[in-house]
Amino acid sequence: MNVVIIGAQWGDEGKGKIVDYLAQDAGIVVRFSGGANAGHTIVLSGTTYALHLIPSGILYPDKIVFLGSGMVIEPSALFAELDDLKSKGIQWEGRVFISDRAHLVLPRYRQLDKELDAKRKNPIGTTGRGIGVAYALKASRDGVRLADLDNGELLSNLEDEDRAYLDQWADKLRPLSVDLASYLHQHQNSWTLFEGAQGALLDIDTGTYPFVSSGMSCAAGAAAQGGIGPRSIDRILGVFKAYTTRVGNGPFPTEFKDDTPGSLSNYIRTKGHEYGTTTGRPRRCGYLDLVALRYACMVNSIDRLVLTHLDVYDALPEFEACVGYRIGDKVVQDFPASIKDLESAVPVLKRFEGWQQPIENCQSWEDLPLKAKEYVDFIEDYTQTPISIISVGSERRKTIIRESPWIRS
Ligand code: GDP
Ligand code: IMO
Ligand code: MG
Repeated sequence: MNVVIIGAQWGDEGKGKIVDYLAQDAGIVVRFSGGANAGHTIVLSGTTYALHLIPSGILYPDKIVFLGSGMVIEPSALFAELDDLKSKGIQWEGRVFISDRAHLVLPRYRQLDKELDAKRKNPIGTTGRGIGVAYALKASRDGVRLADLDNGELLSNLEDEDRAYLDQWADKLRPLSVDLASYLHQHQNSWTLFEGAQGALLDIDTGTYPFVSSGMSCAAGAAAQGGIGPRSIDRILGVFKAYTTRVGNGPFPTEFKDDTPGSLSNYIRTKGHEYGTTTGRPRRCGYLDLVALRYACMVNSIDRLVLTHLDVYDALPEFEACVGYRIGDKVVQDFPASIKDLESAVPVLKRFEGWQQPIENCQSWEDLPLKAKEYVDFIEDYTQTPISIISVGSERRKTIIRESPWIRS
């Protein structure tokens, strides 16, 4: 059975935590897109693991994890991450494999990425990890894939510096290289999780272009880049926060205007630790945007939503969520493609009463306060999508399962 998990906002929704939780029942975890621009955090028994390239199933000693063909991987970053995991007691040998179709990131792409962004009139605010450069070279058919390490003719076309770098890592990379599609075909009876990176609104096609990343963070990416065909996807989960965050530049209709000490924005950033896992940048914060969330459900065929960070709202007497955009003299509920429209959109807000009690120890739907349930019910109603999992804290156990995704319907 194949379950896909993607971010349904602008990234950092808590995908790492949810993949880690659900991986206890999976045999295989495949990360299908992005590179070291991602930062997926798992908190287990007080230890925090920040994963950038390695799939979030790695903490279980018996899971096999794969880096899919849609990923762009810098070998030095990969082995630094594996060394770090090992220093924390995670034995990875024999459990981490990479699709031979995955593209490699060369160190100079980082500098190029930063230079390109600095030159833009309206910078994107990239993570500076060379991700856009790697995907651009992939699209222009000038990239280097893992399978190409043994293609002398292709390597001879590279600059000396690039070839020397690849030579340095080739012997360590080769044993990790696999034909992912064939492997998954042979293991089609396994329970496999497909872990997305970034989020629906950062996807190159469905996101707020050009303020997006350059990979496929949409659910379709699991099929195109995770080694299975589209018909093999059984269930698609979209992870979203009780509010919205964004790192980097680009339109954000529900962003809080006031970010001064004592403001709601500041409160959420502090309570939710809203600082980038990869770059440490403070995340921009705002109310939940239901217009954007419904769009993400629609374009990704999301079957079930996963709500995270509900606990961050614990102390609030009231809060709001966006149910429409006022653009010019019209109120719309469809998510516009135009950046200008998104920038000028004034959110139409609906008010909710807070529950004003801690929920981090709630273990079931019944344990949640009525006002929290009312918020959940409203989101389900607006998006026409059931919320099957609710996360009430960063620790693995702080998770409420209303319906397991490992059920074929
Ligand atoms: P990802 O990129 O989607 O995996 O998310 P990140 O790891 O970048 O950011 C999510 C952050 O929120 C991490 O620090 C998680 O430990 C934390 N987190 C995840 N779920 C919850 C939750 O339900 N409540 C709280 N308070 N924190 C959470
Ligand atoms: P995870 O998987 C949040 C953002 C960057 C920037 C834009 C382009 O942890 O959710 P890039 O370096 O990819 O070219 O930057 O995308 N971005 C993310 N924001 N979470 C992420 O990943 C992100 N990956 C990229 O901040 O605005
Ligand atoms: Mg993240």
